[in-house]
Amino acid sequence: MRAVMLNSVPATPALADLPVPRPEAGEVLVKVAASSVNGFDLAVAAGYLQQMMDHRFPLVVGKDFAGTVEALGEGVEGFIVGQPVFGVVMKPFLGPGSMAEYVTVSAGYGIAPLPEGLSLAEAGALGLAGTAAVDSLDAVAPAEGETVLVSGATGGVGALAVQLAAARGVRVIATARPGVEADFVTGLTGAKVELVDHGGDVPAQVRALAPAGVDAVLHLAGDGAELAGLLREGGRIASTLGLTQDAVQGAGVTVHTVMADPNPRTLTELAARAAAGALRVPVTATYPLERAPEAFAAFGAGTLGKIAVACS
Ligand SMILES: NC(=O)c1ccc[n+]([C@@H]2O[C@H](COP(=O)([O-])OP(=O)(O)OC[C@H]3O[C@@H](n4cnc5c(N)ncnc54)[C@H](OP(=O)(O)O)[C@@H]3O)[C@@H](O)[C@H]2O)c1
Repeated sequence: MRAVMLNSVPATPALADLPVPRPEAGEVLVKVAASSVNGFDLAVAAGYLQQMMDHRFPLVVGKDFAGTVEALGEGVEGFIVGQPVFGVVMKPFLGPGSMAEYVTVSAGYGIAPLPEGLSLAEAGALGLAGTAAVDSLDAVAPAEGETVLVSGATGGVGALAVQLAAARGVRVIATARPGVEADFVTGLTGAKVELVDHGGDVPAQVRALAPAGVDAVLHLAGDGAELAGLLREGGRIASTLGLTQDAVQGAGVTVHTVMADPNPRTLTELAARAAAGALRVPVTATYPLERAPEAFAAFGAGTLGKIAVACS
């Protein structure tokens, strides 16, 4: 099969021919139709995870997948061959990734059925970013009418989080530079989103909009400690960037460090929302598998929404 892989790290991912993996007991073999680039994939290629996870080379990159069930490993129940599915590769080691024509994944975690009304192309960009958005929002649990600042609203996680937050009836302040970025973020949802330009003085702009402080912050980009300083006393900040409570000690706010948990329930809820038209998967560019290295370069150079990879 064609796969985007690394023979060592740090290195630039390259296309190669590899054997189709066999599903072990409890695993599903998925014929991958679509994947997408995540910051995690760039971190792997850059060698940043060498001390944290076992690397098995040749290492196929990619977390997100959408495709059809090709084969079932021993003991798998609940899926059938030919069924459309999507999700996130969650093995405890790095090796079998989703930017390939086939991937093996656990049948019990990181996979859910694809509902009618959601395309494979969209679902291939939904899993990790969508789960990170849901988990971040759930962590700060904004009540209707509260104000939430989404820092990093122009990215994949942020573009989904803005929509999910607006659907909860919260007041959303989102980061975007004027022009294409601003149009992208305001176009995400029918609800009104107030914008601050992260090319300028974010604290001053947020204080002008929320003089008493915001109730919650989603820290998906930018300086977490500075953003925490924009919270009211007792406010909450969720960070996908590893911000911890120590970094904002004494500020009277709570920090939630988020690790996305793509369990089948969250994936199913996300897919149902997207299939119903209540959540738009913000794919802004799609690369064929053989041009995936260019997709990595594009992601690294700055992203608007999700960059998808068509795998077959
Ligand atoms: N912990 C987890 O489980 C988990 C899961 C998913 C993602 N993540 C992490 O969460 C972060 C967001 O993910 P993503 O996929 O949405 O990444 P992304 O697509 O790269 O989005 C980040 C966005 O933030 C913008 N940005 C850069 N600097 C900013 C600043 N100072 N203030 C406001 N916005 C700024 C970027 O614009 P430019 O590109 O123009 O700079 C980009 O549009 C990434 O660091 C990712 O690795 C963590």
